Amino acid sequence: MVAATFWAPGSPAGAEAGPEAGADRAVAAPKITYDKYSLMVDGKRVLLWSGEFHYFRLPSQALWRDTLERIKAAGFNGVSLYFHWGYHSPKQGVYDFTGVRDVDRLLRMTEELGLYVVARPGPYINAETTGGGLPAWLKNVPGRARSSDPGYTAAYREWLDRINPIIVRHQATRGGSVIAYNAENEYAVNTDRAYMADISARARAAGIDVPITHNQCCDAADWTTDWSTGQGAVDILGVDDYPQAFNCPDPRTWGTWGTGVTERRSREAPVYAAEYQAGAIDLNDAGYEKCRELTGPDYMKVYYKSNLVTSGATMFGYYMAYGGTSWGWLPQPNDVYTSYDYGAAITENRQLTTKYDEFKRQGLFLTTAAPLTKTDPASAPASSNAAVHTEARANPDTGTQVVLVRHADRTTDADESATLTWTAPDGSYTVPVRVKGRDAKLLLAGYDMGGQRLAVSTSELLTHTESGGRDVAVLYGKEGTQGTTVLRYATRPTVKVLSGSVQTSYANGNLTLGYDHQGLARVLISDGGRRPLLLLLGTDAEAAKFWRADDVLVRGTSLVRSAKGQSTIHLRADLAKAGDVEVFAPARGLTLNGKRITARRTPSGSLLAHAAGPKAVRLPELTRWRSAEGAPEAKPGFDDSRWTVADKTTTVSPIKPKTLPVLYADDYGYHHGHVWYRGRFTSDGQEKTVDLNAITGRKGIYQVWLNGRYLGSAAGGVQADAGDASTPPNPDPGPGHFTIPSGLLKAGQPATLAVLVGNMGHNDDWTAEDVRQKQPRGLVGASVGDAAITWKIQGARATDPVRGPLNNGGLIGERLGWTLPGYSDRTWRPAQSTITPGSSWLRTTFNLDLPKDQDVPLTLRFPQGSGKYRVILFLNGWNMGQYLSTGPQRDFALPAGILRERGRNTLALAVIAEENATIGKPTLVPVANHRGGAR
Ligand code: GAL
Repeated sequence: MVAATFWAPGSPAGAEAGPEAGADRAVAAPKITYDKYSLMVDGKRVLLWSGEFHYFRLPSQALWRDTLERIKAAGFNGVSLYFHWGYHSPKQGVYDFTGVRDVDRLLRMTEELGLYVVARPGPYINAETTGGGLPAWLKNVPGRARSSDPGYTAAYREWLDRINPIIVRHQATRGGSVIAYNAENEYAVNTDRAYMADISARARAAGIDVPITHNQCCDAADWTTDWSTGQGAVDILGVDDYPQAFNCPDPRTWGTWGTGVTERRSREAPVYAAEYQAGAIDLNDAGYEKCRELTGPDYMKVYYKSNLVTSGATMFGYYMAYGGTSWGWLPQPNDVYTSYDYGAAITENRQLTTKYDEFKRQGLFLTTAAPLTKTDPASAPASSNAAVHTEARANPDTGTQVVLVRHADRTTDADESATLTWTAPDGSYTVPVRVKGRDAKLLLAGYDMGGQRLAVSTSELLTHTESGGRDVAVLYGKEGTQGTTVLRYATRPTVKVLSGSVQTSYANGNLTLGYDHQGLARVLISDGGRRPLLLLLGTDAEAAKFWRADDVLVRGTSLVRSAKGQSTIHLRADLAKAGDVEVFAPARGLTLNGKRITARRTPSGSLLAHAAGPKAVRLPELTRWRSAEGAPEAKPGFDDSRWTVADKTTTVSPIKPKTLPVLYADDYGYHHGHVWYRGRFTSDGQEKTVDLNAITGRKGIYQVWLNGRYLGSAAGGVQADAGDASTPPNPDPGPGHFTIPSGLLKAGQPATLAVLVGNMGHNDDWTAEDVRQKQPRGLVGASVGDAAITWKIQGARATDPVRGPLNNGGLIGERLGWTLPGYSDRTWRPAQSTITPGSSWLRTTFNLDLPKDQDVPLTLRFPQGSGKYRVILFLNGWNMGQYLSTGPQRDFALPAGILRERGRNTLALAVIAEENATIGKPTLVPVANHRGGAR
């Protein structure tokens, strides 16, 4: 066994840390090492069970904590975090880590919650975000991105030199949370070893002393020292796998197997399922509920449990635990819309799903049963039925076995039974098992369960705790199936069945319990030479009702955030409704969210209390809308004297313009949202059409006015038009030909052409080709007969220092602050529901007074109107996404923090209509109502 050891830095621990982060840095810093079995923190093995979280998709620090608490309560002991270069950098040399970009604060939260972090700063991250995380200004930097080209090298080093010091001071080796550092992202084709090597070298030079990982994709490149020739190698090579693909419209199909289970990629490092599918992008507009079904509990049981036993993985990153919102101009235009719910276990509005329940069942188990951190393949119990497949691993030191039981045909819905002949560490056992529907179980044998000895069980272990001198253990199985659990005792123990129907027998040191998984049975076992055990035997659903916070088990609440204290347990928990709360701890008293509640002791030795539910809430209707015209720029007399002259004749973009000057928005520093163009020419009276080309990204449009007259709109070019390695660039992207009405132009007279071009976000660079990522946005060609046109361009005015570079584009309301709460719309007229083609603005305000101790996530729902239009919605100045009348998204998350839950809110809508349209009134919709919340 080779154990890699990393040097621990000699600098004073916490020297650069923020005020809270430095608190307990005096404690000796642990070393993070690994071998082929697992990661180790100061020699102690850790099974890393982490879920992916994108802070940039949740612009509210309070909700970061809320969501991290939810992730932790699901049994995760870690999070995987991308850091998004473009989110922090509006232009070269400028970086911002404040407010919703304060990742130092984020990392402190993970520390406070005791979650490990796999830090993934890219520089490239993909993630269905604009530019795949590359800043848009990089489009103006010569040289291929994701290579060792000098231009790109200077750029990405700028980013790493800022983000690395933040990550460094939060490493587990310095008392922080970061346990691994991931270099690049699925860097698989068009690779450049010198670039990959430089990322690791810079990380090490900055003080990264935790293992460096890479999430490999597609069998393409190999980045480990033991299997590859070296340059660019990382310590632990992980595998990304999305076995269900993204076929959300057909959620009952099952993906490929074999490649669908994580492979070992480094001989001397743990098997790492770096990004394992835990949701899907909604490529076909099926809706995220379908994506959630595609990657639902049955898939999770079969695939995730196989990763543990078939592959022996001990490092997991589930993509995504919580997806969030691609607010502002965060979405990459080709694959996603505003919502990045992802069909994840935690919904975009932070609600917990049946997938969350399954994560909890698996996560609590895997982070409880320590022998799972070190296992080798072992012989499995013989199955009497070929349709029931068994497979096992065992811990070489303790002998503990973990057995995977599933259908041999993993896609079948059949109900199969078998008898297992099981040679376990404590003896041979013959036990019945049943696999009902798509299912897989992880069964234990020879396991020291606290002070107990579990010989074998056909129920799965949820978790066990030790408190007040006794063990409490929860075992579960599918409703209606039989369970057998055998516990070892020196002498016959005293068994008391408190509830449910459980048969027991004792012979040769084996206490055998037989039962059907039905509701929740309770058995109290004492004597027999061991400390007492409260055994709770339940169904899958009953198991999911349990929460574990440290050594306290709780049931009855919708969430448990923490449980602290000895004689009084202080519970921070959420409740969807009034009901009983049961706490398994030897305490005498109970407080719930800071208030004492009366609790009585039950025969199970737990505390039982009745807790009140949330009060009903009433939401205001959105009325008193006012409106303003949104395209004064189209008028010939509009003052554009302060606009940027667009007269460039060259560009670093690999895609060349059809006409000159270069009109690419990025070349003039306008990277996000809409841009306006105004072209002036003198008519010769012969012009018949305005002929344009524009690239907007998928689903983008542009609109054209001549001498103030609206001529129409056209669809902008998309990624495919720009070509990739196999297809040459499209010579005619996003064409639009607009007939000039007769009489509109007069020979010898000046004319003004105004064009508003949308920008749906920047392409990613997944294949490291540069041509996709550098694809321009804005006009790529413009002609009106033979006229010589001079151009001006206007995009976003300046970066909003609070909301960041991706919040605003160049619409008039964005430039003049109509989106902001402070703006007075008193001169605006009362709004009509009918909209004429072009652009217009709507505003209203509403007051909320939501109860302080309740969590009521709200969404804004757009009713189906008529006509083709799109709406960019601003809540208190924050661009919370884009509604398209063509769908699919109608509900838009309004996250607390941006939403003032007690106070006045301002909604501003930029409406861009392609034709006459009627827009219905949007409404506020409560997604849930819980007493509690992360306070
Ligand atoms: C992976 C990538 C992630 C994300 C995911 C699909 O290939 O690493 O960033 O794009 O696919 O959602």
